Amino acid sequence: MKSITVELADRSYPIVFCPGLVTGTDGSEQTVLAAAMGDSIFIVSNETVAGLYLAPLKKLLGDRKVDVYIMPDGEAYKTLDQIDAIIGKLLAAGHTRETTLIALGGGVVGDVTGFAAAVYQRGVAVIQVPTTLLSQVDSSVGGKTAVNHPLGKNMIGAFHQPKMVVMDVETLKTLSPREFSAGLAEIVKHAALADWAYFQWLQAHQDSIMSRDSACLMTMIEWSCRIKAEIVASDETEQGRRALLNLGHTFGHAIETLSGYGLVLHGEAVAMGLMMAADYSVRSKTLFESAPAQLARLLTAFSLPTVLPKGLIKADFLQAMGRDKKATAEGLRLVILRDLGRADLTSQIDEAALEQTLAFFLNNP
Ligand code: NAD
Ligand code: GLY
Repeated sequence: MKSITVELADRSYPIVFCPGLVTGTDGSEQTVLAAAMGDSIFIVSNETVAGLYLAPLKKLLGDRKVDVYIMPDGEAYKTLDQIDAIIGKLLAAGHTRETTLIALGGGVVGDVTGFAAAVYQRGVAVIQVPTTLLSQVDSSVGGKTAVNHPLGKNMIGAFHQPKMVVMDVETLKTLSPREFSAGLAEIVKHAALADWAYFQWLQAHQDSIMSRDSACLMTMIEWSCRIKAEIVASDETEQGRRALLNLGHTFGHAIETLSGYGLVLHGEAVAMGLMMAADYSVRSKTLFESAPAQLARLLTAFSLPTVLPKGLIKADFLQAMGRDKKATAEGLRLVILRDLGRADLTSQIDEAALEQTLAFFLNNP
């Protein structure tokens, strides 16, 4: 069994790769879960994922006390109301601080369950079982948990590291093509910010990735998780370096906000945001000129958008960027590219370059 450790001293945890475990096609690694939990389990999933994978997961848990909470599906349910409902059910069923929560689903289920685990009786254990590509390479690793507030996305949250992350690459076979591509945006982001060899590998394996070849997906997810795990280990609570993982996100956040959440998927907004970050980097003279075209080719091969939806207004866009929680108090902070495979954080904004980037992307005829 392959495994990566997120090195965080006494809160270190493994990301284990068990293809077939959650989908119920290969139970040979079923003792892996037992190592991370006690006798009492509370699974959170949503109505879509539960229909696919709850029964095989429950089968792995043997005689333990297992309660289940099924959320409605969608970002609209990443709310305090869901936390309240989960906590009500945990209390009513007599769950103590020894209970382990299991998040079975994508990033929404993972973020909600992680936050519920962070606050229930001042913190209980959580195991992440991510079932989307985005959650396997990004949200399940690193301990960021949150729910949304009507005035802002992810505005209520906590850092709460899981006890374990269990990756079953086979769950990705039932994911829609659009959600699969959305996950690939975060993967391109990892390569662009940290590893040129990874970027080249993605270019060379486009077809196998898009046809969801299991071995290829395992290599890719493992590569991305290693990049994320190393960055998280160096800066768990985002005092500095972890912000590199926000490459493309300040622009992307504005695109998501102005297009209306749900119309543009997070990963699609990240893809467009990556293009804007690369364009800004060229205009502010930190990145070589042909890099955005290389990036666009890879994103396009992954069926991701590289141009913005029509009708976005510059003043609104700037405001949405400024309201992004990733902006510092003094002003905007951007992740820029210095190469394909190397990013940097700056609060020295080249105003002229930013103007040109916005003009270029917002004047989409
Ligand atoms: P999601 O959780 O909404 O899942 C996308 C869709 O796929 C849903 O309809 C879901 O029911 C369905 N689905 C999940 N697994 C499936 C499967 N195996 N087969 C078929 N359908 C499946 O979206 P997501 O992209 O996984 O996550 C997005 C969320 O993650 C956002 O709320 C974002 O803010 C959050 N996020 C958090 C972090 C973090 O560090 N905590 C990082 C990135 C994103
Ligand atoms: N998704 C960015 C982070 O985990 O820091």
